[in-house]
Amino acid sequence: MPKPENTLTIAIDRRESSPIYQQICERFKAAIAAGHLKPGDRVPALRGLAMQLNTARGTVEMAYDMLVDEGYLQMRGAAGTFVSSSLPASATLASARKTRERTAPPRTKRAEAAADVGNDAKPLRPGLPALDAFPRKLWSRLVAYRARSGDLATLTYPEPSGYGPLRERIATYVGLSRGVECVPEQVFVTNGYRATLELVLRGLATPGDRAWFEEPGYLLARNFLMEAGLRLVPVPVDDEGLDVDAGIALEADARFAFVTPSHQSPLGMTLSLARRMKLLDWASRAGSWIVEDDYDSEFRYVGRPLPALKSLDRDDRVIYCGTFSKVLFPGLRLSYVVAPERAVPRFEQLTKSMNAGSPYLYQAAVADFIAQGHFARHLKRMRALYAERRALLANAIVKAFGERVSIDLPTGGMHLVAIFNARPDGPVDDMAIAARARESGLAVIALSAWYLNARTKPMLRGIVAGFANVGDAAEATRLARMLRRAYDAYDAYDA
Ligand SMILES: Cc1ncc(COP(=O)(O)O)c(C=O)c1O
Repeated sequence: MPKPENTLTIAIDRRESSPIYQQICERFKAAIAAGHLKPGDRVPALRGLAMQLNTARGTVEMAYDMLVDEGYLQMRGAAGTFVSSSLPASATLASARKTRERTAPPRTKRAEAAADVGNDAKPLRPGLPALDAFPRKLWSRLVAYRARSGDLATLTYPEPSGYGPLRERIATYVGLSRGVECVPEQVFVTNGYRATLELVLRGLATPGDRAWFEEPGYLLARNFLMEAGLRLVPVPVDDEGLDVDAGIALEADARFAFVTPSHQSPLGMTLSLARRMKLLDWASRAGSWIVEDDYDSEFRYVGRPLPALKSLDRDDRVIYCGTFSKVLFPGLRLSYVVAPERAVPRFEQLTKSMNAGSPYLYQAAVADFIAQGHFARHLKRMRALYAERRALLANAIVKAFGERVSIDLPTGGMHLVAIFNARPDGPVDDMAIAARARESGLAVIALSAWYLNARTKPMLRGIVAGFANVGDAAEATRLARMLRRAYDAYDAYDA
């Protein structure tokens, strides 16, 4: 016998600032969390609920679609729509309370939120490597092997500049694969890119120094540098990467240039050879430092990875920064910097006075991972996997959005940028769309949030989305549809 429909009454409040479809979603989530609706319960038909609420059928449909995508409801064709038999973990009382209490935040707050994707592994999070494809068993074997060694020396404070054998492995790796010739003494192991920047600034900067920063550019580094007291000069990027002439015209005496030459963050172009030579020439003449952030160059899908900018540095002006966050996993918190030769004594002294250093166990396990050949094998596998996942997500977004977006398939990296085409009434507000996408559980970032200067023209609008964790075509379609719904909700309520 078919299950009777749950008689729960859904009430909406037209004075609330959040849209009706969102209120419907929240009421359902709260009812599920409180146990008023149970797995397997049939929920009202679209038309019935629309009539009960005196709203359009499309509004209820949008809410149901979202609840299906988030795993709360299941549609079973003619039999009706039911509360899912396997509810998502977030369907708890606490989350329902939070949902009920939340009222739509003011626009400025939503804009801020559009750039803050938190730390967890929500879908489409830019920069997060494929967590499902990391060889976790092998990794735990390597860590356990080191933990069991019983060597008392491993229990003391770690070496502030980094574990010696890991510094050696890194020096060999960047030499062979990135053309960065260095000795292990130049390599300093750090706990993430911002820890690297802290070392660089403490070693080489004075508060108030001016620094070129790509416009648009890596927003987390940007915020950190500004908090540290640097005065950032936004320098535009074009098809060839950083516009060095524009930088010289804006601030010829800047003390630093922060760049992502292999794969511009976020737009993805490569700094051309001519620009590389010009940038190095400027740094030599001005006595400035170039900070090269080589965060994800290992992943390139077209042609071979280009050598690092540092490989062309004849005058010791480039500070080369790498990270294990993309090639292994970010929870590791291990990264490194290859210091210019003349800065090595300063960096050594600083790491000692900061009592820097990273956990021995993980450093040793990474050194073993590299030495035993797992690193090279993992990179090779990930390159093939990411190329596939990149295509899946790009195709799904194009299908879901049609003419509304343009995507240039990135030649490398782990994220893509879907640019929203301007409409006759002007540019779309990507911050509002990203905020709505975040509300539905996605971790995309608005492209305009990567611009330092709110008046930069032209300012591209779009969504920066990570593809490394998109498991298959069905998931890509589901996520792209969620994005599209965020766009439509913006259209209906914010535009
Ligand atoms: C442009 C850029 N640089 C560097 C990093 C690496 O940061 P970390 O080493 O702190 O994980 C990231 C990570 O997302 C990034 O996007």
